[in-house]
Amino acid sequence: MGQVLVLDHPLIQHKLTFIRSKDTGTKEFRALVQEVAMLMVYEMTRDLPLEDTVVETPVATAQTKMIAGKTLALVPVLRAGLGMLDGVLNLVPNAKVGHIGLYRDPNTLQPVEYYCKVPSHLEERDVIVVDPMLATGGSAVAALQAMRDRGATSLKLMCLVAAPEGIHAVEAAHPDVTIYTAAIDERLNSHGYIVPGLGDAGDRLFGTK
Ligand code: PRP
Ligand code: URA
Repeated sequence: MGQVLVLDHPLIQHKLTFIRSKDTGTKEFRALVQEVAMLMVYEMTRDLPLEDTVVETPVATAQTKMIAGKTLALVPVLRAGLGMLDGVLNLVPNAKVGHIGLYRDPNTLQPVEYYCKVPSHLEERDVIVVDPMLATGGSAVAALQAMRDRGATSLKLMCLVAAPEGIHAVEAAHPDVTIYTAAIDERLNSHGYIVPGLGDAGDRLFGTK
C-alpha cells in the first residue's frame, strides 16, 4: 500500500492554522500557501538521489554532490494547485512544470478534465502532483492516472489537507504513490467539503466565489 506522510514541522502546522482561518484574506492566504508548499517540498525531497561531482572552490578542488538524474516534474491541478507552485519552485527552480485542468462537477463530485500538458520524458522523472485539497480523491486519482497514461512511473502527491475518504481512494487506485500532506482531517460533509478543512481552496486563492 502507498504511504501517507503527515509533514508536521512546527512552521508548517503554525502556518496551516492561519490558512484554515476564515479571517485570513486572499493576499495572506496566497502567501501562506506558498510558504507552506516551500517547507513541504523541502521535506519531500529528502530522498532525492545524489551523485558525486567535483567543483573548484577559490582554495582547492572539492569532492561534492549534486542531485542525480532528470529534473523533477511538478504538475499542479488547476486551479488550486497553482497556489502551491511558486512555493515549490522557490526550492527547485529547475523543475519542469506540467498542468492538468480538472474541476469537480458540483452534483456528481466527479472530476472533469479540461486541459493537460506535461513535460517530455515523464517516464524518467519523479513527478509530483500538486493540489491543496484531497477530498473525495476523485481529482487526485484522475490526475495521477493522467500522468501514468503519459508514461510517469514515479509519482508523489502533495496536498495541504486530506480527508480519510480521499486517502483511501488514492491508496486503492494508486497503491505505489506516497501522499504528503500537512494534515488529515475528520471527514467530508454532504457537499464533499473537507471538515474542518479550509473552505474552497481555489476561491480563497483567487478571490472568486
Ligand atoms: C478542488 C481541489 C481539488 C478538488 C478536490 O478543485 O483543488 O482539485 O477540489 O476534490 P476531490 O478530492 O473531491 O476531487 P475544484 O474542483 O474546486 O476546482 P478549482 O480548483 O478549479 O476551483
Ligand atoms: N475542494 C476544496 O477546495 N475544498 C474542499 O474542502 C473540498 C474540495
